[in-house]
Amino acid sequence: MSDEWTDLGSAEALAERSLQRVEAEAGPIALSCVNGTFGAVHSACNHVGGPLGQGTLAGEYIVCPWHQWKFHRLTGIGEPGYEADAVPAFPVKVENGRVLVNIKAATKRTKAPHEPHPLARAVSRVEGPVRVVGLSTTAMQNEAPRYSGSDHLLESALAAAKAQGCETQLIKLSQLQFRACEGFYSKSARACTWPCSITQMDDKDELTEVYEALVHWADVVLIATPIRWGQASSLYFKMAERLNCVQNQVTTHNRVLIRNKVASFIIVGGQDNVQGVAGQMLGFFAELGFHFPQFPYIAHSRGWSAEDMENNVAAVRDSKELHDGAGHLAIRAVELARRLLATDPAVAVERGGRKAHRLIDTLRPA
Ligand code: FES
Repeated sequence: MSDEWTDLGSAEALAERSLQRVEAEAGPIALSCVNGTFGAVHSACNHVGGPLGQGTLAGEYIVCPWHQWKFHRLTGIGEPGYEADAVPAFPVKVENGRVLVNIKAATKRTKAPHEPHPLARAVSRVEGPVRVVGLSTTAMQNEAPRYSGSDHLLESALAAAKAQGCETQLIKLSQLQFRACEGFYSKSARACTWPCSITQMDDKDELTEVYEALVHWADVVLIATPIRWGQASSLYFKMAERLNCVQNQVTTHNRVLIRNKVASFIIVGGQDNVQGVAGQMLGFFAELGFHFPQFPYIAHSRGWSAEDMENNVAAVRDSKELHDGAGHLAIRAVELARRLLATDPAVAVERGGRKAHRLIDTLRPA
């Protein structure tokens, strides 16, 4: 065997698995074997480094386990239509029952120019008045809307912000078609990307509007939720899981996307657990990097045994106190936003929260 060839192991043993990751001096290799023919390509995917050797085979293509990009198992070339993307492929041979690859004769990695997603642009506040986005998270049929106490209070809060000279915007999650988080993060922290992997691969996914507002547009975010079985609404959690990609940037890139922004909450339930709902929302939005005004939420609940729902509705709808409270919440949030905007945005917080530690690098992309 000449120096050019690296011994990967017994052909008999390596043929037992159709696709596997094998370590070599040039880095990890995705070694495939179909009908006795071995193929060897570099295991790091062109996209964001997913481990091709841990993927699956679809015919002659290796499918990346992270976001399903495909590369030919023998040539390393991307699937039809994406040939300009290629991972290095290594000549392979079997001699004396051993699998050998020629590392030095690898083909080149080539990357097609991919237009970055618009959300990926640098976060830079455009001059102008304080901008306030209201996020309604109650689930409802838009063709047959019903009264929502949390939405009604959110409207009052936005009206108060507008009266303060702010630009306002209302986003109703119930009007957006968006996919649930598919847990890319659970495969690897680096598989959860910014912009969200789903957003990048599915141009019909409408959570883009929320990302655009939270990361790029708003100074203040007012989130309104009903209480459902002691928790915020299911749509709130569907959104929150998709916001993992914002928080995960701190983990993977020490990149804080949310700076000098304020969050406040409106929580309305026929029954109880206001403090539990507020605790989750405060904890989550703190992890994203938001600031909170003094007394960062208003809430209303008539208690566990209040099953007379029509009275619960009336209690919110007709309460001047609650609607005034929603307005004052917005004003507190806007005042804090003004103070934050007057500070130097270049002052960055060194790794905060539970991401104070750096990502352990045992998760090297493969
Ligand atoms: S498809 Fe391979 S890392 Fe995204």
